[in-house]
Amino acid sequence: MADDHKRPHPRTGNRPETKIITAGRRHEWLRGMVNVPVSRTSTVLFEDVASLIDSYPPRDGHLSYGRNGTPTQWGLAQALTELEPGAAGTVLFASGATAVAFALMSVLEPGDELLVADSVYEPTRTFCDKVLKRFGITTRYYDPLASAGEVEAMLSATTRAIFMESPGSLTFEVQDVPGICAMARARGIATLLDNTWATPLFFTALAHGVDLSILACTKYVSGHADVMLGSVTATEAYWDRLSKNALLFGQYVSPDDAYLAARGLRTMGVRLRRHEDSAIKIARWLQDQPQVANVIHPAFADCPGHQYWKRDFTGSSGLFSIVLRQADDAAANRFVESLELFGIGYSWGGFESLALPVHPDHGRTMRREKPSGAMVRLHIGLEDPDDLTADLEQGLMLIS
Ligand SMILES: Cc1ncc(COP(=O)(O)O)c(C=O)c1O
Repeated sequence: MADDHKRPHPRTGNRPETKIITAGRRHEWLRGMVNVPVSRTSTVLFEDVASLIDSYPPRDGHLSYGRNGTPTQWGLAQALTELEPGAAGTVLFASGATAVAFALMSVLEPGDELLVADSVYEPTRTFCDKVLKRFGITTRYYDPLASAGEVEAMLSATTRAIFMESPGSLTFEVQDVPGICAMARARGIATLLDNTWATPLFFTALAHGVDLSILACTKYVSGHADVMLGSVTATEAYWDRLSKNALLFGQYVSPDDAYLAARGLRTMGVRLRRHEDSAIKIARWLQDQPQVANVIHPAFADCPGHQYWKRDFTGSSGLFSIVLRQADDAAANRFVESLELFGIGYSWGGFESLALPVHPDHGRTMRREKPSGAMVRLHIGLEDPDDLTADLEQGLMLIS
């Protein structure tokens, strides 16, 4: 991207937590304002026919037609690109689920085979099993704890892509992402990662060898539980395909949503650190509670794949699971329903705490061990962690 720095706007910072403040704020988009404003348009008017014709194909930073974006969407996309060293660009999507689906469609063709970690977000799995299958693409699942060599041993002549999510949904297995990516790149196989849990602040996906990094920006990027949005950030090798396909599909995100996500992004650094600190404090406390059999948190030594978290990540966010000593669903439901500060609901990554009974065995084929008790996923929000602990304590008392 061109460095068009002119006072009074800041230069791009080098460290990630400075970059999330400075990234995507081009002078020509801001003109003195701090945030790139919401620009809404469908039609763009031109001075003459020559400039109208010249506006196609759409080019970086040039208005052509509303569907191709305005500075509001471009500013957010550029900011996400700047946060991923090695990225050529970012496409925004209407939700995280769309971003996952579109990234897969952009690298696969009929007759191809896809390998997917068994611990992926369930709708990702359903998309592969239902939609990709209809397009003649076969999906096979691998154990999220498999080494790069074990994943390599599963490749067939038609394997074209590997989809990872690390840590995995609900069970939080951390994978050897750099190892799997290095193995795949040597064979020309595309690697995709759902990096929603860590965000680029805690795991720089492309710098670790990933080709396409996917975020459900609905979660930590937006951070306020009021936006649905996704993104795919790609290396040079995949950028052309991804961005051109997105234009052909008419892929579009509302500037209002892009504005809210960009606004959320600016505080993601401090929010994530607070989520992290509170989650670790509460998870440690939960480890000592007699009603809790196990706490599954990537930053804890007994989390499957913890050694990769320690090696590759720079932090942990606010989402983890607990296994209760009681095995029946009714106990987990009673616990969750008794909580007063934790809401019961899907999603996570907003400022508020959430609790959800979960059943990781549904749909999976490769889980090594069944959890010994009922599982609950917790999202630790930005409330005072002592209040959250007191709430969990009264809830656990009820199932003693
Ligand atoms: C890991 C992960 N990826 C993707 C998604 C999908 O994102 P969205 O809800 O924005 O479609 C979710 C949603 O919960 C998720 O948890």
